[in-house]
Amino acid sequence: MASTLKGLILSGGHGTRLRPLTYTSAKQLIPIANKPVLFYGIEALREAGITEIGIVVGHTRDEIEAAVGDGSRFGVRVTYIAQDAPRGLAHAVMIAEDFIGDSPFVMYLGDNFIIDGVTPIVEKFNARQSEAMILLARVANPQQFGVAVLEGEIIRELVEKPKVPPSDLGIIGVYVFTKSIFTACKSIKPSWRGELEITDAIQKLITDGRDVRAEIVTGYWKDTGRPEDLLDANRMVLDRVAHQIEGDVDAESRVEFRVKIERGAIVRRSVIRGPVMVAAGAVIEDAYIGPFTSVGENCVVRSSEVEHSILLANSRVLSLQGRVVDSVLGRGASVERGDERPRAMRFVLGDNSQVKA
Ligand code: TTP
Repeated sequence: MASTLKGLILSGGHGTRLRPLTYTSAKQLIPIANKPVLFYGIEALREAGITEIGIVVGHTRDEIEAAVGDGSRFGVRVTYIAQDAPRGLAHAVMIAEDFIGDSPFVMYLGDNFIIDGVTPIVEKFNARQSEAMILLARVANPQQFGVAVLEGEIIRELVEKPKVPPSDLGIIGVYVFTKSIFTACKSIKPSWRGELEITDAIQKLITDGRDVRAEIVTGYWKDTGRPEDLLDANRMVLDRVAHQIEGDVDAESRVEFRVKIERGAIVRRSVIRGPVMVAAGAVIEDAYIGPFTSVGENCVVRSSEVEHSILLANSRVLSLQGRVVDSVLGRGASVERGDERPRAMRFVLGDNSQVKA
């Protein structure tokens, strides 16, 4: 019988590429179609039959614990593993050794979104246990990835961000390891960026002649590290949204194509053109919400047009003249046209905010 796998989700990190959102919030809790990206990962592990999950957390621990709790509402048991600083993926593995014990485990990067989940790689591992398995994807820009050289399914070599890529098979955020990875992680030194790199640890397994295999994803996946990646993943999930109107939509509004409006949302004199998702408590008045937009809880969009955007909870778009597109508004952010004189643009922006007016 296949041994029971545990799960290890990495949910610490710096999140520098998603500033300013990550100054105040964990990047793994940024919503894709109004659900934190981390929840998709937990659900993917659960679907693959994994119920013992360790979550590595850093300075955003409290927020992640508040959102995930003990895991019972996902049907899993969650143990939190504190990482004192983001010292690298291999460091996160090392500090999880007590939790993992002798079990093989799936390591999942908490900001990754993989539409087919982890069941295919887990099934393959269970059918033919090897020392490690890595999920790979064909990528257009292998120079920016760890790249694998394969012989059949066997990984012969890993090259980190190669100038001349030996293949287009990039390492994405899912791995299956056995306990040999702990010894490998302990044997490596920090890289030039000062982190203990998981690719170095896996390369050590390969150099030692261990059986390291690849599984190639064919379905959609995304590392949601940058704002454009969030919009892309959001688009992908909204594209599958089922039409469901439970909120209060008046007769003067028009709802076209597939739109989900949760109970407690209010729509007045507006046009909503799906795929769109509107969360509970949101108010949309005299507005246009265009395709691929998710509107979070208690947002207000009034006398404005928003399209292909993510509005996090409690954000507001009020009386704007131009259409808002390709935008991500953080929690409680507000974009509004003022009536004061002189007519001008007035901003109060956090560090690293971006405005293209
Ligand atoms: P990355 O996206 O590679 O790193 P990062 O979160 O520091 O982001 P940025 O490059 O924008 O600064 O991390 C992948 C996942 O692993 C992510 O969910 C954060 C998590 N992680 C840890 O939990 N511990 C770590 O030491 C590192 C480096 C990442």
